[in-house]
Amino acid sequence: MIKILGINGSPRANKSRTYFLMERALEVCRSLGAEVEVIHLSNFYIAHCGGSYSEDKDSCNIDSCIRINDNFKLILNKMLFADGIIFGTSVHWFGVSSLMKTLMDRLTSAENKEKLFDGKVAGFVAVAEEEGAMSAILQMVSAFNFMGFLIPPYAFVYSTGFYHDISKDIEAIEDARRMGRNIMLASKMIKNVNNWWD
Ligand SMILES: Cc1cc2nc3c(=O)[nH]c(=O)nc-3n(C[C@H](O)[C@H](O)[C@H](O)COP(=O)(O)O)c2cc1C
Repeated sequence: MIKILGINGSPRANKSRTYFLMERALEVCRSLGAEVEVIHLSNFYIAHCGGSYSEDKDSCNIDSCIRINDNFKLILNKMLFADGIIFGTSVHWFGVSSLMKTLMDRLTSAENKEKLFDGKVAGFVAVAEEEGAMSAILQMVSAFNFMGFLIPPYAFVYSTGFYHDISKDIEAIEDARRMGRNIMLASKMIKNVNNWWD
């Protein structure tokens, strides 16, 4: 069975516009047979990255990062069991939310030596009031592609200007549904591939 994880970086959790769009993709994944789980990052505590990589590249690794007394290990475990992950963020100052950024920074420990995300598929959602949704998406794309995630076509969903009622953004909802289909397709295609990238 394909497992899809939604990671919502909006501090407004299940009331957020980001989650509204993410859920449109996830309901398609469910209807195509996936087991789906959602993490609202605001329900967890993740400490800031201490930047050990910048002092000594070898010291940045999973063993030391999961020893920190917070919820990082729990979230990492869920990520490692997923075949596909949809990352969502509200746009905060033209980029990702601090919740999403903190997770991205800490995940350096999973990328630095072991390449733990090779073979996983990623899609992205960002919601802004006016400006910055694509910057936030590209910020996530840059990091998560560097971490080994495969990003299929039509995997970016963004909404701008539907402040009062996101359910009226028909185009973004359709994009989210299409992303759900593509995340499933890509996850199935690569599930049994054993030899990953260079
Ligand atoms: C701290 C903060 C910074 C924000 N910065 C931006 C911004 O740079 N550009 C923008 O268009 N909207 C900005 N907004 C508005 C949110 O992106 C907007 O309300 C969005 O719909 C929130 O999504 P959510 O409901 O998923 O949390 C900001 C909101 C907050 C709280």
